[in-house]
Amino acid sequence: MSRVGRDFIVERNFGPYIVKSTISDELHDILLKGAYKIKKNKNKRKDNDYRKSLAGNLSEEYHYGNIFTPEEDRIVEDELRWMASTYTKLSLKAIGTDYSREPKDIILLRPVWVNFMKQGEWNPAHNHTGDISCVAYLKVPNEINEENKSSESSSKSNTPSAGKIEFLYGDNIGYMSTGSIRSPKEKEIYFFPAKLLHQVYPFKSKAERISISANFADATTARQNLNGEGAR
Ligand SMILES: [Fe+2]
Repeated sequence: MSRVGRDFIVERNFGPYIVKSTISDELHDILLKGAYKIKKNKNKRKDNDYRKSLAGNLSEEYHYGNIFTPEEDRIVEDELRWMASTYTKLSLKAIGTDYSREPKDIILLRPVWVNFMKQGEWNPAHNHTGDISCVAYLKVPNEINEENKSSESSSKSNTPSAGKIEFLYGDNIGYMSTGSIRSPKEKEIYFFPAKLLHQVYPFKSKAERISISANFADATTARQNLNGEGAR
């Protein structure tokens, strides 16, 4: 038997797919500025409190409501819809099925919201409304990464996961992974199917991480469903 000259190709084109990218500095500034604008104002903290609609066990989660100027709002909308469209356009490469949508066919569902995650807070396994979701990181204190490397509780673990996000999918039938744990970095953004279960582990560091999240609807699919079109 010759072992020479044979390729081994990993075929993995099924199951949900996740796409990581980065947000622009411009979007990062707008979202962070908006987040602090809410946090610093007692009335806005009350009016924009979004915890009742969210799974997170966090003391501060706010919807952006009407925090942005019209110009800022346009930038938020344009960039997020373009990125969500790019997510759909990677479907063929990722899973062998074409779900490509142009930005005009992607609806950003309001409101976009922001999470201030502090020591000991967590986000239990949950999913979102809509078709596509994203999470982006505006501030990621280095203490959280350090905690995974040096704390007594995490550093010796075979799964150091303080402050990390985990996407969950499927039953373990062997030769597979049912979880994907990511270590968020500042300005990173993850796109994923809205119904994909995910959770965020707490961290012990005296630090605050700021992330935002948003959901999108696929207008083409919605239209097809309403018209009774599409494959059955
Ligand atoms: Fe979530």
